[in-house]
Amino acid sequence: MADNDSRAGARYATPEILTYTQKIHAAHDAALAQAFAVPDGIPAIQVGPSEGRLLYLLMKLVGAKKVVEVGTLVGYSAIQMGRALPADGHVWSIEFEQKHADVARKNIAAAGLAERVTVHVGAGRDVLPTLDKHGPFDAVFIDADKINYDHYGRWAVEHVRKGGLILGDNAYLFGELLEDSDRGRAMRSFHEQIAAACESVCAPTPDGLVIGIKK
Ligand code: DHB
Ligand code: MG
Repeated sequence: MADNDSRAGARYATPEILTYTQKIHAAHDAALAQAFAVPDGIPAIQVGPSEGRLLYLLMKLVGAKKVVEVGTLVGYSAIQMGRALPADGHVWSIEFEQKHADVARKNIAAAGLAERVTVHVGAGRDVLPTLDKHGPFDAVFIDADKINYDHYGRWAVEHVRKGGLILGDNAYLFGELLEDSDRGRAMRSFHEQIAAACESVCAPTPDGLVIGIKK
């Protein structure tokens, strides 16, 4: 079948197909279900189950031991990535909201990962420099305040090892990537920095996921 539509970006991902493929490939156990069920009062802006599973698989593929995450929310993606690491691996995850970090730490402990995942509370711009000493890192996953993606991208390029991964969620910026706005410019700068420093792609997840392998 010469399906030109799919190469042009047409989506066949109906809700039913997504539910089926998530169930088959990316089913949640109790700990992932707990971390995915964001409590009332906290926005449910975590990655989806298939993206979370992709993070897990990418960490395995790159043999990640040391990972930085910017934007913990309540720990769903940190658990996915933490599970992919060897026992002596570590995820340093940064969360701006104390309330979110409190829930994240509980979810991470319930997943048995309290030793392997550290949640740091603060702004990414303040906390990242305190992590320099643990680098170079095998992977950095950016999923936080979009206005600072250019800054986070620059830090990631400096602190990820050659052959390591730089990942950025929401790379389509909710459809606003090309807008003449501060966030649009910051996100485009992120794309362009990663493309310059890595072999990269923007994978067409629902809101775009930049994947770069550092050159
Ligand atoms: C928002 C942030 C995210 O990282 C995301 O994946 C979806 C939404 C938000 O700030 O609204
Ligand atoms: Mg996101």
